[in-house]
Amino acid sequence: MNKTLRTPVIAGNWKMNLLPAGAKALAEELIPLTEGAQCEVVLCVPYIDLPTVLSSASGTNLKVGAQNCHWAEKGAFTGEIAAAMLKDIGVEYVIVGHSERRALFGDTNETVAQRTRAALDAGLKVILCVGEVKEERQQGITLEIVRLQTKIALAGVSAEELQQRVVVAYEPVWAIGTGLTATAEQANEVNKGIRDLLAELYDQDVADRTVIQYGGSMNASNAAELLAQPDVDGGLIGGASLKAADFAAIVAAAG
Ligand code: PGA
Repeated sequence: MNKTLRTPVIAGNWKMNLLPAGAKALAEELIPLTEGAQCEVVLCVPYIDLPTVLSSASGTNLKVGAQNCHWAEKGAFTGEIAAAMLKDIGVEYVIVGHSERRALFGDTNETVAQRTRAALDAGLKVILCVGEVKEERQQGITLEIVRLQTKIALAGVSAEELQQRVVVAYEPVWAIGTGLTATAEQANEVNKGIRDLLAELYDQDVADRTVIQYGGSMNASNAAELLAQPDVDGGLIGGASLKAADFAAIVAAAG
């Protein structure tokens, strides 16, 4: 297992925050703060902010992502966004299966798999979120849950797609937006469990080349310890991604 085979990915998930003017200001504040980054830096922003953030990020090393996409190419899906629409305006990444979408908007392992497939078909990169809820951790079934979620989501994904265009984000649901972070050992244990599953489903080389992030209350103070773990290849950051200095500190910790 060799961490140098992977370039870490630090992704900000702005969730439903910031009007376009605020999004532009934050993206532009981040450009000088992250220009020397040794990792891939992605801003996953609300749909309405995509054009302005894409234009600010153009010519910089910042990549831009959305936070969800539908599984169909087009059609009667009021309020949804097709992966091809995101790709068409220059979006590179999309988050799929975030726990808020699973808990509040009815996403299931099956729809997460369909969204993943659609995003890859449209040429996007996917940040695939998996993670257990508090009760599942207490019952000792974290690895089973995370393996199940990952296996179903990746059912139609080739080895090449996985290592080139899929980032897996382990996000324990009890740690998201709560200020409770998994310990570095807990994060690494599950990330390693995901990598072992990838080795079973594909092979060890593919597993060793796949980026597996941790997310859940990662911040400027705990990032270095989490990111130093052998199987933690970056982070998906919510709250702390809305503060330029904090997000930049996390990016620096990944270098
Ligand atoms: P948080 O969110 O960093 O605010 O816990 C992480 C996420 O939801 O991706």
